Amino acid sequence: MPVRLSNTLKDNSPAGVDPAIRDYEHRYRTAKRSGLEDRDNDHREFTNLYYDLVTDFYEYGWGRSFHFAQLVPGESFETSQKRHEHFLAHRLGLGPGMIVADLGCGIGGPMLEIIRFSGARVVGVNSNAYQLERARKLAEAAELTHSAQFMHCDFLNVDSPDESFDAVYAIEATCCAPDKPSVYGEAFRLLKPGGCFAAYEFCLTDRFDIEDPQHLRLKADIELGGGLLDIDFEPTVDEALRSVGFEVLETRDLAIQTGPSIPWYQPLVGSGLSMASLRKSRIGRSITRNSLRVLEAVRVAPAGSARVAETLNLCAAAMAEAGRLGIFTPMYFIHARKPE
Ligand SMILES: C[S@@+](CC[C@H](N)C(=O)[O-])C[C@H]1O[C@@H](n2cnc3c(N)ncnc32)[C@H](O)[C@@H]1O
Repeated sequence: MPVRLSNTLKDNSPAGVDPAIRDYEHRYRTAKRSGLEDRDNDHREFTNLYYDLVTDFYEYGWGRSFHFAQLVPGESFETSQKRHEHFLAHRLGLGPGMIVADLGCGIGGPMLEIIRFSGARVVGVNSNAYQLERARKLAEAAELTHSAQFMHCDFLNVDSPDESFDAVYAIEATCCAPDKPSVYGEAFRLLKPGGCFAAYEFCLTDRFDIEDPQHLRLKADIELGGGLLDIDFEPTVDEALRSVGFEVLETRDLAIQTGPSIPWYQPLVGSGLSMASLRKSRIGRSITRNSLRVLEAVRVAPAGSARVAETLNLCAAAMAEAGRLGIFTPMYFIHARKPE
């Protein structure tokens, strides 16, 4: 029973979340209809509203790291997430003495792990104040405030001088940018010459057919339920990296695994997983939504909570199906270098 979740929602949304989720859905539909003409201005409010609404749900279902991972048999989801974080840090060659930016740091789960793994200092950049408040508390609890700093700003306009970071990374966050050159250009500006940028991108694969109504519906559901205005194809990402000046070292879809593996979307389906994974699964999500309906009716949860859960469920179901069809990946790995 998500009682802890409903209490948190109540504390954070005393006026109720119903107007906010309706406003969010309205903004998504308007932005899509208008052809995203005012993307730059719209995206900030749109993303912020989305993360105000969903952060408690994410933490309830996913823990402190809000991302997928390459999964292998015999390893827990949390361990796979950590391995995914370590992989990025390892590829960037992070180590003590380095100063690194995490663009779109969420509540700081990945950056705290990357600090522990590498010994680097990491600055978490996030436009969402509620997530940053949570991230600061988690950094304090982990006794990592000397290595973890936070910046409340848009990752398109980071409040730091040019060439002030040894490395920059982003985990499933740059998908929220209105377009790739804007955010990659900012990463490029922040990096010292010779410094590297790495990220996990949400991408449409070459199996995605722009004429197929089912593919288009799945993409729209992922966008609406995932706080995104659009999802790019892999070559668009590669091209954007080059267009801002990066030398591309590697780009590849980590969802395509060799050796023993479990599909990345399996936690959203649920079969064969442990009880610890229940909240992410189809049945767990349905329990959460139905419980919230009851808790809303007895005024324990704020009105609109179940609607937020439904919007997230739409996204989760679409991601699972898009993953099964191989038309979408949340782990298109990019690794690029700013020339000396
Ligand atoms: C899916 S979450 C991933 C969070 C984190 N990287 C993790 O893996 O746990 C996306 C994050 O990007 C942040 N974000 C989205 N757009 C942003 C922007 N324009 N500026 C700064 N942060 C942004 C959101 O607030 C959220 O924290």
